[in-house]
Order: sequence, then C-alpha cells, then structure tokens
Amino acid sequence: MFRSPGRPTPDSGVGVFAVRPEVSDTSDPAPRTSLRISGATARACVGVSRLGHYGGHHSISGGRDARHAVVLACPQPRLGRGLFRIARRVTAQTRDALAQQHRRVRSQTEALASPLHPEDQVVQSMPDVSPTKWHRAHTTWFFETFLLAPNVKEYEHFHESYTYLFNSYYEVVGARHPRPERGLLSRPTVTDIARYRAHVDDALTALIESCPDDEWPETSALIELGLHHEQQHQELLLMDIKHVLSCNPLEPAYAEGQCSSRVATPMAWVDVDGGSVEIGHDGEGFGFDNEFPRHVVHLDPYRIADRLVTAAEWIAFVDDDGYHRPDLWLADGWAAVQAHGWEAPLYWWNDDDWSVFTLAGRRAVDPAEPVGHVSHFEADAFARWRGERLPTEFEWEHAAAALHQRDDEQWQWTASAYLPYPRFQPAPGAVGEYNGKFMSGQMVLRGGAGITPAGHTRPTYRNFFPPGSRWMYGGVRLAGDA
Ligand SMILES: [Fe+2]
Repeated sequence: MFRSPGRPTPDSGVGVFAVRPEVSDTSDPAPRTSLRISGATARACVGVSRLGHYGGHHSISGGRDARHAVVLACPQPRLGRGLFRIARRVTAQTRDALAQQHRRVRSQTEALASPLHPEDQVVQSMPDVSPTKWHRAHTTWFFETFLLAPNVKEYEHFHESYTYLFNSYYEVVGARHPRPERGLLSRPTVTDIARYRAHVDDALTALIESCPDDEWPETSALIELGLHHEQQHQELLLMDIKHVLSCNPLEPAYAEGQCSSRVATPMAWVDVDGGSVEIGHDGEGFGFDNEFPRHVVHLDPYRIADRLVTAAEWIAFVDDDGYHRPDLWLADGWAAVQAHGWEAPLYWWNDDDWSVFTLAGRRAVDPAEPVGHVSHFEADAFARWRGERLPTEFEWEHAAAALHQRDDEQWQWTASAYLPYPRFQPAPGAVGEYNGKFMSGQMVLRGGAGITPAGHTRPTYRNFFPPGSRWMYGGVRLAGDA
C-alpha cells in the first residue's frame, strides 16, 4: 500500500500521499496454512507484564474510505526503529479522540522521565545511547518540524537553535548536532525542555481544535504518526537510561520494582506445515512502510518454540564454554566475542551467583526468566549449541498466533537480514533516502518487549538492529526444520 505517485512536501520533508488502491492488497491471496500445535495451547500473548502499562492499547481506525498514506522520515542512523517511514490508511479520528491520544502519549513520556533527576537526563553512556532530555526534546522537535512549522502560519519556534540540536538525521532539515555528542548538551536545561514541550503541546492542542475540516484527514494522520514516533522513543528512553544507570558504580535503580519468582514451562514446539503463506501488513490500520507490501512467501515445514529461551538454559550454555568455542560462532560473532570479551549477556554479572542489572536495580538472575540483552551473534551461537536455529522472520510471523511470550518479554532475533519486501520502493523525493538505504547490515527482530508501549507492535512489525547490538531488549526463540 505504501508506494505512491505523490511527492513529498519539499520544505517539511513530510510527504502526504494518496494511495493507489491497487497496491494496497494482495489480489490473489494464497491459502493460509494451518498450524498444528504440539504440547502447548495456542493463545494470543497479552502484555500483562509490561512495565507501567502505558496507557492501554493504541486505537487506530483503519477504513476503506478516505484513504491516505503518510510518509515520514525520522532518522537515526543505523539504529533500529529510529529510522523509519510510516504508511497507513487513515480514516480521520475525531478531534476529541486525537486530543485524548495526544495528551496520553505526551504525558506518558513525561511520566517515564519523572523518576529521573536532571543529572540523569543529560548523560550519554555510549554513542548509541541518547540522553533522556534529548528524547524528550527530539520527539517535540518532530511535531514542530513536520507539522507545526509547515502548516501553522502563526507558529513561532520555541528556540531557533533547536532545529539543529534535536534533528536526529534528517538531511532535508539541515545540519544537526553530532549524535555521539548529545551528552555534551548541558544546555538547554531539563527545565527548558519541559517548557519546549509545553509550548509545542499548546500549539498542537490549538491545531486540533482549529484545523479546517478539509485539512483534518492529513493533519490528524501526521499527529498520529508523531505519537507513534514518540512511543518508539519511549522504549528507546528506557533502553538508554538502563545503560546509563548501569555504568554508574552505584548502580542506581530507575524505579522500584517487584520481582516475583517464575516457573518455566518445558519448551514445547509448534509444528507448522509450511507452504505458500502471506507475509506483511494487510493494509488495515497503522503500519510502517517496511511491513509492506503484503506478499507470498514459501515456507518449508518447520517447528518453532512456543516460549523464549530462559536464563537457566543460557547459564547451561555458559557453563558448557559456549563463549569459548569458535565452532559455535559465526565469524563476525567470534570476532565480537574476542573484541568485547563477552562472557554472558549484557548486564549479567557472576559473583558466586549470576546477577543482572535491571531498571529496578541489580538482582539475582531468575532461572525461569527469558534471557535478554544478547546480540544476534550470541542468539545464533546458542541455537547452534542446542542443535537448532533461529526462525526466519517469515516463520515467526506465520506462527505468531501460536506463540507464548510473543511481545511482552524480549524482542526475538530472527535469522533474517533486514531487507525490503518484494516490490518495496522508497518514496520519491528526499524521504526516499531513508529506510531503504539502511536495509543493509542489520538483522530483524520480531515481537515486542516488556518496555514496549502496550499496543504499539503487531505481528507484522519489523524491528531491526546491527547483529552485535546488545542494549536493546533482545532475546531468543528457537526454531528447527521439521
Ligand atoms: Fe526519532
């Protein structure tokens, strides 16, 4: 559905397009293959353990009338989910509904930042990490740059330098502050950023109330896109502050947390017949362009684990010298092990017993919890050690409805490189330089994590990171040939 004959708005870098209906759907859908579940009861996995339950499920009304697609580039180089374009069909939301959604998402970002002191919000612990203050400002810059400045005549920028400071990667917008130096920005202060957010929120509220009816479908779609973008940064904010706090010898907790002991079920397998199956977004509701177009993929029969790999299973890998056996590792993975001295997942520490740093501070590793913060290289080596493999992203998506721990614990590394789907084409114009050009050197993760805003992901959602990345919530689901 994403491809469009339209052209982006030159100044804003945001293109609003009319969608050609003929590219919205697969015209001759292949028969869907049935799943045979063995040893487990199929169920949809509900995010019951999400940290904080951000505001409930996201409600988007897709429709076959009044269709528009909005394409937007929000760039963060070489990082999953920071660089994206968004496409969706839109039936314009009511003003009240969008105003409510706007308040909910924006206030949730502030709630996530509220446990942090100003000093916490400035630190950048590695180039991939952005300070909390920067996330709060950049998500605001997004609305100002792509919505308010180009569409509201009387809008006044909060500060002329913010376009430079809080542009992530957007070439059309112009020069920007170097990403690795975001932690040097002691000014503007946290207080300044709070005022910046209020300034933009006031303007957005006024726009929602006063937008002419004929502009509402496109305006409301852009606002909603900005809110999805902000939800992505809510997860990034938590990933990043976890890394920041972990680098402090005091190991401060982000927030109080309760850890109830778990009981792991035996790993059961979902047997799948395979065949020709449909993969990708069906065009109803919100989706990023990398989920399109829906297309047919052939799958050989396979099996996929109904739950994630546990910490106890990972400890067995460590105890069997898994990090010291080059035969288990891809060449690049083994090089990473040597270069970084990996001996266990990120945030694990072995001092008589294994402990793990969490957003609630350091605690003992729970043997039954899903392992997280492992790279694709580690996930791949573990699977090889077990005599299994990682699922392809297509196998994962096709079996998604039968999987436990699908989107509420850890994202799951797949064996699939992040590549365009057949017939995917970058948008014309400036926004075309994004997304497609980064489909190189990264691997796809599917599912969702406990820190992902509830309702933000879906079975067709494609997250992606370089294979050596470990600071995202990345876990392991095994698969095998039937
Ligand atoms: Fe962004």
